[in-house]
Amino acid sequence: MSDHLLRRKAAFQYIFETTSLKFQPVCDVAQAWAPVNIALIKYWGKRDQIINLPLTDSFSIALSLGTRTRISRAPLAAVHDIILLNGKEVSSESSFSRKLVEYLSFFRPDDSWRFVVETENDVPTASGLASSASGFAACMKALDQFFGWNLPLEKLSYLARLGSGSASRSLYSGFSLWKKGELDSGIDSYAIPLPYKMPNLKIGLIVTTEEEKSISSREAMERTRKTSPLFASWPQTVQEHLSQVLEMLRENYSRSKDIFDFKLFGSIVEQNALSMHATMIAAQPSILYWNQKTLEILHCLFQLRKQHPEIEIYATMDAGPHIKLLFLQHQEEEVMNFFCRFGVRIVDPLWN
Ligand code: PMV
Repeated sequence: MSDHLLRRKAAFQYIFETTSLKFQPVCDVAQAWAPVNIALIKYWGKRDQIINLPLTDSFSIALSLGTRTRISRAPLAAVHDIILLNGKEVSSESSFSRKLVEYLSFFRPDDSWRFVVETENDVPTASGLASSASGFAACMKALDQFFGWNLPLEKLSYLARLGSGSASRSLYSGFSLWKKGELDSGIDSYAIPLPYKMPNLKIGLIVTTEEEKSISSREAMERTRKTSPLFASWPQTVQEHLSQVLEMLRENYSRSKDIFDFKLFGSIVEQNALSMHATMIAAQPSILYWNQKTLEILHCLFQLRKQHPEIEIYATMDAGPHIKLLFLQHQEEEVMNFFCRFGVRIVDPLWN
């Protein structure tokens, strides 16, 4: 067994052994749903590539869109796992399939066992929302049900992290915090839910292209970490942004009156996303996920805030060219007025 595989196996085994899990299905089909999450303070850069350990903590909000996954056992004659995405069988050669099959290999009751995994995204296709986070979280929840484990969400978060880092934050509604952890084993790196709420928060999704992204986040992160001269200051930037937003939420939560400074909150969130993109733009070769439309929307937003300082609409972007606007409900009309032409779609966070 390769070193890579041994380390991954050990990371899964930690949960399997410390909780004495049995690999005997308790039902024929298990089904689970998990939300998409949008990082407000981003995860960018790993301290361990093999078991997805991040260099920094990150903070996200869950959306009322997500992924539903059904797990069952494949017929005995099946030689590989059968994977269906939105009703269509996925080629075993695709990267989607390979990543999932590798993940499932740690959950087989015996070597000949094959799974059927049916995944449906209620995230519209090409919505600009990466569905790997909700996908791995939903898959992990379904496996948990299939084997009747009833693991605590923090353990499911740890296991989902081994599929895709950001999946660790898709186990919860509302705000989540993924702790980077300190240990090399990664046993202290999982997400926790935060009690704060912002019921009037809205997200505006703008898809800027239907094209696939040019480079995976896994590869882009690693190139940025290794070659970007701006990357050295990134962990400190995240630390500062995170403590500022968490402090604001904590203070607001402990007060009875709602006097939350959304302008400051939104500015920090936007600055965090722009800082992340700056680190990757400075990588060698440069990683520029943005397209003309991304820039047009950003210019429109910056101009809008300059001309109307009372407008509190902010942008965040992940490893792709799409834009997610953050705003409060009372500003929905302005969002529609100014961003309707870019095809903005308004989505609610998931609070319960
Ligand atoms: O979990 P991954 O490998 O898909 O990486 C996600 C990276 C970002 O979406 C850009 C940031 C984040 O924290 O989700």
